[in-house]
Amino acid sequence: MRKLTVILTIITVFVAFQTLAFSQNKYIGKKGCIMCHTTEKSGKQAAIWQKSNHSQAYTTLTSDKAIEIAKSKGIANPAEAKECLECHTLGKTVDPALFDSKFDIKDGVQCETCHGAGSGYKTMPIMKDKAKSIAAGLIEYKDEAAIEAWCKNCHNEKSPTYKDFVFKDRWELIKHPKP
Ligand code: HEC
Ligand code: HEC
Ligand code: HEC
Ligand code: HEC
Repeated sequence: MRKLTVILTIITVFVAFQTLAFSQNKYIGKKGCIMCHTTEKSGKQAAIWQKSNHSQAYTTLTSDKAIEIAKSKGIANPAEAKECLECHTLGKTVDPALFDSKFDIKDGVQCETCHGAGSGYKTMPIMKDKAKSIAAGLIEYKDEAAIEAWCKNCHNEKSPTYKDFVFKDRWELIKHPKP
């Protein structure tokens, strides 16, 4: 009986630790991802993303148009306002406590916005193993409907410049599969 209690305690502590470690994953920033995702063989995710508007999403908040939109909502500086930054960076409230020193909000809607904070899964032995990556925090999308739902987390009418979002057309413009 005592042995069982000890084992259960160990399991409980282990699970609690894992949960803690998971919830404390940090955002490592684009450099930490693109270093391994640039080659033709891997699918050139870095270049595809860099060319997409997502990489410019923060810069957009410094434009005259953004400042004008913000003004009409009583916001002085859109590039510092959480109401604008949430969709132009992570798709959720931006918490600097979760950023490691190389993470830069100026990189806009970036790899970890859609794939999850990467400090836990960024190493080669984990990345090579899909199941391990997911266990370490890589976000898994069950199917296309799940991907579409995630896009609409930002591409929706709460966007002051909302344009009708047809998933298939827009996905075509930014998808970056491994060949
Ligand atoms: C040390 C190299 C390395 C780093 C750093 C790295 N990756 Fe990977 N990643 C890989 C490898 C290898 C694979 C396996 C697929 C392949 O061979 O291209 C992979 C697979 C993936 C996959 C596909 C998982 C699947 O099978 O569905 C995603 C998504 C991904 N990486 C995102 C990221 C993101 C986001 C970051 C930054 C937080 C990152 N990677 C950092 C090497 C790396
Ligand atoms: C975190 C919020 C967020 C998420 C999630 C997101 N986007 Fe975006 N997306 C933006 C923002 C912000 C812009 C505008 C960037 C700019 O022009 O500065 C944008 C622009 C785009 C553009 C280029 C302009 C356009 O409207 O055609 C495409 C294409 C696009 N997104 C597709 C997608 C797809 C597909 C998904 C889901 C896989 C997705 N986005 C998920 C925030 C997001
Ligand atoms: C709900 C998510 C969301 C919020 C909140 C949001 N944006 Fe955006 N923003 C987007 C998306 C997605 C796009 C891409 C175009 C589209 O479909 O709306 C975009 C595009 C833009 C553009 C480029 C539009 C163009 O046609 O040139 C500007 C400027 C902009 N946003 C400013 C702002 C400002 C300023 C705020 C804060 C007051 C803000 N956004 C808040 C999601 C959002
Ligand atoms: C707007 C959201 C978004 C952004 C930004 C984004 N991705 Fe993805 N990525 C996705 C989605 C959605 C998938 C498809 C996942 C699936 O099919 O399960 C994907 C797939 C991948 C894959 C797997 C390809 C395959 O076919 O196995 C890799 C690797 C990857 N992304 C790496 C990156 C890297 C590196 C960056 C940054 C340079 C990045 N992604 C930026 C949403 C995004």
